Parts: sequence; structure tokens; C-alpha cells
Amino acid sequence: MSRSLNVTTVLGARPQFIKAAPVLHELARRGHRSVLIHTGQHYDHGMSAVFFDELDIPAPQHNLEVGSRSHGAMTAHIMTKLEPLLLESKPDVVLVFGDTNSTLAAALVACKLRLTVAHVEAGLRSYNREMPEEHNRVVADHVSDLLFCPTPTAVANLAKEGIERGVHLVGDTMVDALHYGRDQAGRGPRTLERLDVAARSYILTTLHRPYLTDVPQALGDVLSALGKVGKTVLFPCHPRTRLRLEESGLELPANVRLLEPVGYLDMVQLTASAALVVTDSGGLQKEAFVLGVPCVTVRPETEWVETVALGWNRVVGHDPQAIVDAACRDGWPKEAPPRVYGEGHAAVEIVARLASSMPALAEPSAKALADMK
Ligand code: UD1
Ligand code: UDP
Repeated sequence: MSRSLNVTTVLGARPQFIKAAPVLHELARRGHRSVLIHTGQHYDHGMSAVFFDELDIPAPQHNLEVGSRSHGAMTAHIMTKLEPLLLESKPDVVLVFGDTNSTLAAALVACKLRLTVAHVEAGLRSYNREMPEEHNRVVADHVSDLLFCPTPTAVANLAKEGIERGVHLVGDTMVDALHYGRDQAGRGPRTLERLDVAARSYILTTLHRPYLTDVPQALGDVLSALGKVGKTVLFPCHPRTRLRLEESGLELPANVRLLEPVGYLDMVQLTASAALVVTDSGGLQKEAFVLGVPCVTVRPETEWVETVALGWNRVVGHDPQAIVDAACRDGWPKEAPPRVYGEGHAAVEIVARLASSMPALAEPSAKALADMK
């Protein structure tokens, strides 16, 4: 049995706009009522608005304008501003994505209001509590009623923590977005021509994890390795990283081209045509894999363990020699990568399962809301 739903989606940071776009489109296609709340965690045009334009995401009804703050202040500010909006919109379900502070804040508020919480990209684990994302995703999973997992590994991770109810294996919505992005990019900006680079002649790099950016020695290690990889390195630079580069006074090697953050359609083209990706990004590791582009991950571990097991991703931390060895050694797989993150239908699965789960879940939430008045 299914019915029309009232869904409130809370987003705030770059990867969430990309992960959510296919789900928001599918909610609209199925005629569900959809309210979109932007926390304002990311706010530069190149970190936020460009994704709404390119992925055709409707303008949010509310922007909480949290801006940049410490983790606690950001989480608290989002929670305080979100609570009255959820009390007003009385959604059947609050939809959150990924593992940012915006995810944590929205999941907690919704849970405390006894609203149904649905977490997309549930069950990912790095088992590294130094990462803020690890706290966010563990808490979000434990307060969620519906947990949409991209992989069997994610389902198994949840089972290890005793979470088995409400768990759905649906594939990864980033693959859905990638299909859309590849299709649009063909008609969109001619990124390689604009940047005057030939396909497979360059390495694409992104870096933004505090463990690298906030430790000048570690950031310097990665830069020095990039200087020795023997190719042009295109480096669309996260604002956090640009700030740290300026503060530290680190020199960029001559082959590294620092760019402003690029839009999604540019990024899809740059990834698809790269000889190699070197990154600490979660999403980019996975996109490189899906596009059959080798990746060197400059982190101590990864959540996307399938990419490593299948030989497409070498996880090496920030030791410069280890980065150069991994980047320059051949032996990458010859066959196209298997579709372990799904076929690009995750959003359809998620919306179908939301609709069929809801009559059972919605009743206590609505009652709890009435009790709070
Ligand atoms: C956040 C997420 C991280 C995700 C990343 C995606 C948390 C804890 N971290 O990290 O999981 O991988 O987004 O990009 O939620 N800044 C700007 N303009 C912006 C946004 C940020 O200048 O539009 C600068 C500010 O100096 C800010 C810094 O970047 O202090 C960090 O931003 P923040 O959102 O706190 O964390 P991210 O590193 O972006
Ligand atoms: N991305 C982008 N432009 C950029 C850098 C990244 O469009 O300049 C996209 C990238 O293709 C992926 C997502 O942003 O879809 C990943 O976000 P990010 O690396 O910021 O966060 P993470 O995935 O590590 O949480």
C-alpha cells in the first residue's frame, strides 16, 4: 500500500546536493509533496548554487544560513533553526544524506520530534573516530528509522551495530547523478578545451579533509608528491584548502594548476578523462571507480572498500613516496569495473520504499507531533 507523502529534505554541503538531486526529481515525478531546507553550511556560488542550477534542483523553501562555524556551534545552530520549521511542516519523513554536520543536526532534531528519519547512504564506516564524518554517520544511522544503504558492506556494517530493522539495500544515488551528469555534460561546457588539456594527459586532484589541510606538514607531503608524478595536475581547490595554502605559505609545484571549485558537469568531464585521480574525497573515489579511472586515495583508510578490493583504488595516506609509487606504478585493472554501486536506479528504489513503508511508520510520528503542541 502506498500514498502521497509529505517529505522534508535537509541539505547543506556540496556532496549532498549531488546525492539528493536524483531523489528530489523522483519525489516530484511521483507527485509527493517535497519541502527543501538548505542549512547554508556551504554558501559560495561554486560550492552550492552551481549544483542547484546544473542538477535542476528546485530552490529551497528555507535557508538556515548557518555559514561556517565550529562543529558544535554549527550543529546547534542548525538544530535550533530547524526545529520550528519541522513543527510547522509536519512531514511524514525527514530525509538526510551522507555524513556532514547538516546530516547530524537534521537527523537529531527530527528524531527528538519523533518524526520518521530516513538516512540515504547509511551504513558507511571508516572506523576512524578522528573524522568528524564518522561521528555524524554513526549517530545519524542510530537515530534513523529507514536506512538506505548503497552496498551489502554497508548493510553488514549496520548489522554489526545491531541495526537490522528498516534497512534497505538500494544502490548509490551518486551513480544515478553520474548518469545524469554524463548525459548533460555531453551537451554542456567543453571543459577540457577550456582548460586546454588533452584526455588522459593530466591527473585530477581534490583535497579538503582536515587531517591533511589543517596539518601543514601533511599538506606539504601531498603537494611534494604531486610535484613528482610527471603529469599536469588539475586541482579544483576547496575553499578550506585554499585558505590553508595561503596561511601555510606552502609553494605549489610548477605542474600543479590550482583552480576554483568547478561545477558538477565540469567535474564529471574532468574525472572521466583523467589519467588518474588523487584525492581524499569520498564521492570522487567512487566516481573515479564507476568511470573506470584509477584512484590514489591520500587518506589512511576508506569507507568505499569495494574500490580497493577490486584494484581501482590505492589507499596510501600522505607519505610522499607512497603516493608517488602508487601513482606511477602500473597494474591497474584492464576490465571495466563491475557495477557494485548499482545501475543508477537508487532514487527510484528509495522513493518506492519510502512510500510503501510510510503508512506503518507515519502514525506514531503524527501523534507525537500533536502531543507536542
Ligand atoms: C564539509 C563536511 C565534509 C564534506 C565536505 C564536502 C562536515 C563536518 N564536513 O567539510 O564531510 O566532505 O563538506 O565538501 O560537515 N568554506 C567557504 N565557503 C563555503 C563553504 C566552506 O569558504 O561555501 C570554508 C570556510 O572557511 C569553512 C571551511 O571551508 O570554515 C570548512 O567548511 P565546512 O563546511 O565546515 O567543512 P568542509 O571542510 O567543507
Ligand atoms: N565536486 C565538484 N566540483 C569540485 C569538487 C568536487 O563538483 O570542484 C563533486 C565531486 O565530483 C563529487 C562531490 O563533489 O560528486 C564530492 O564532494 P566532496 O569531495 O566535497 O565531499 P565528499 O564526497 O568527500 O564528502
